[in-house]
Amino acid sequence: MTAIELWIAKSPTHLAQVAAELLLKQIQAKPQLNLSCATGATPVSVYAALADLARQNHQLFADVHCFHLDEYVGMSKSDPRSYAHYIQSHVLDPLGISESKSRLWRGDVADPHEECAAYERDIRDRGGIDFQILGLGLNGHIAFNEPGTPLESRCHMIALTASTLEHNAPHLGSGTIPTHAMTAGIATIMDARQIVMLVSGKKKAAALHQFFTGPISSKFPASFLRQHTAITVIADLSAIDNQRDLWKGLSVYDAP
Ligand code: GLP
Repeated sequence: MTAIELWIAKSPTHLAQVAAELLLKQIQAKPQLNLSCATGATPVSVYAALADLARQNHQLFADVHCFHLDEYVGMSKSDPRSYAHYIQSHVLDPLGISESKSRLWRGDVADPHEECAAYERDIRDRGGIDFQILGLGLNGHIAFNEPGTPLESRCHMIALTASTLEHNAPHLGSGTIPTHAMTAGIATIMDARQIVMLVSGKKKAAALHQFFTGPISSKFPASFLRQHTAITVIADLSAIDNQRDLWKGLSVYDAP
């Protein structure tokens, strides 16, 4: 297994620029790239950096096809708390990606299991994900693959854990709190040709350390990513708690 690289960015802004630059290179090589976006607080600044690039070149994302990772069950796109709404406002609108070039999860469908099967099929029918942007959950979840999710999982419905709901509470606000989500599975994510995982903030330091040093196990779903052959992890200094020593022996580099 090749060692995963950990790139250390000087700040969240630097992290965003580095991630945006990586994606830019891929789009230049393949304008019709299939992109899959994470939601959450961490990638917001990356999408803002991409929006800057889109303002300089209006055609940059014209042929990019956009997917995203997950959605709360029961939430329609018109609900500002939904991930479809997040992707529309942070990714599709600012980057100028049209509705016909995106596939948003439909949280308010009658049959979530059918929507999961359809989402998996739609990714496959478009030729798979070229570039996957990921965040890291405090308990090691990726997308909404909570601890216990097997490596072979495809798009599926899951029950949200208390810890994830607590972390996401500020963004969920008032109103009915979802109990379930639909998510790309771990195998769905592992199929991406290139993955960039973003980790920002001191709160994530323990999870990031476990990601690199703990066992590969469904107890910490992100650990499966260590078996991916084209993944870059970009963390800011606070996510390593400013303690580079802790990461000795790993492939740690200053982000370019
Ligand atoms: C949610 C999303 C994940 C995301 C995680 C971390 O649970 N389903 O895809 O990675 O939050 O979000 P944040 O970046 O806000 O810490």
